[in-house]
Amino acid sequence: MPRVFNFSAGPAMMPEAVLSRAAAEIADYDGSGMSVMEMSHRSKGYIALFEGVERKMRSAMSVPDNYKILFLQGGATLQFSAVPMNLLGRTGKADYAVTGYFSKKAFKSAGMYGDIRAAADTGNYYAIPEPSEISVDAGASYFHYCHNNTVYGTRWPFIPETGNVPLVCDMSSSILSEPVDVSRYGVIYAGAQKNMGPAGLTVVIVRDDLLESPLLPGTPEILSYKAQAANGSMINTPATYGVYLLGLVLDWLSEAGGVAAMAEHNKKKAKLVYDAVDASGVFTCKVEPRSRSIMNAVFSSGDEETDARFLKEAAARDMVTLKAHRATGGIRASMYNAMPLEGAERLAELIKEFK
Ligand SMILES: Cc1ncc(COP(=O)(O)O)c(C=O)c1O
Repeated sequence: MPRVFNFSAGPAMMPEAVLSRAAAEIADYDGSGMSVMEMSHRSKGYIALFEGVERKMRSAMSVPDNYKILFLQGGATLQFSAVPMNLLGRTGKADYAVTGYFSKKAFKSAGMYGDIRAAADTGNYYAIPEPSEISVDAGASYFHYCHNNTVYGTRWPFIPETGNVPLVCDMSSSILSEPVDVSRYGVIYAGAQKNMGPAGLTVVIVRDDLLESPLLPGTPEILSYKAQAANGSMINTPATYGVYLLGLVLDWLSEAGGVAAMAEHNKKKAKLVYDAVDASGVFTCKVEPRSRSIMNAVFSSGDEETDARFLKEAAARDMVTLKAHRATGGIRASMYNAMPLEGAERLAELIKEFK
């Protein structure tokens, strides 16, 4: 199939093997005579598929038994409200590390529900704060941070130390891209449309004891982690086809060697691009090296016309969606798991050749 290297920040590239398998099964899933998207979510066949995907996700991320994996909707953005609705009732206050575009949105959303404090906000979104720049309130219901800042291209190089305060993490743009010690977290959430599949599915991983936190008054049942866990994520119709595609992505991931192999693959791609940028004499990456994302590389020539010419030359070589977010300007190369090494090689080549 004619394919381009799609550097979109999300929805993003899917593995070709997954698309081929989905295409082959589109009208007849497993001899059922129907597409997965035509199956009742209450049918035996679909429940078996759904439970299988849960098992695959648990295995891929080594999720311990005392955590539930929920398959929800509403995107990561709905979690900006669901997290406080589910957890803020513990003490009424929470800490947020504000390190970029989406973590700021999460911070602002939570502010509607209680006493929310910026536990780290250096104002410089091109660097992750040092551990010494983070203050943790021992009375906070939870500490929220965003592991990979998709817009500014930064990644936390360490897990913040918060003692007994549960860690809540937005992993929308880094989930499944590298190994994660899930046992360090209270809640992990992510929208699917970068490393897991199509938009419309949101994965929430929550530690069992946190399901007992008092809900804020007025929390709809559909946003209650406890109610969703008790109902197998099926209070209403889940994103049935998205869950199926996540299953195919997890099969592909497992065949590719799992998250450890993926981390090597991703680091290699990111290094090719950052090295080319640093040596180019044309482009610069404002993100300090220790904070650089291995998913989203953001760089610029500092001149809009030059950047636009680069985007045009990239498109001529089948490299598309490289325009950065309006908050930073410039160029952003999002290289999630499904981006082949060849995509990063081709981009690095153009950066080197570009005058
Ligand atoms: C880190 C991060 N958090 C949250 C979001 C918002 O996700 P959604 O559009 O699924 O609500 C995004 C989207 O790009 C993101 O990159």
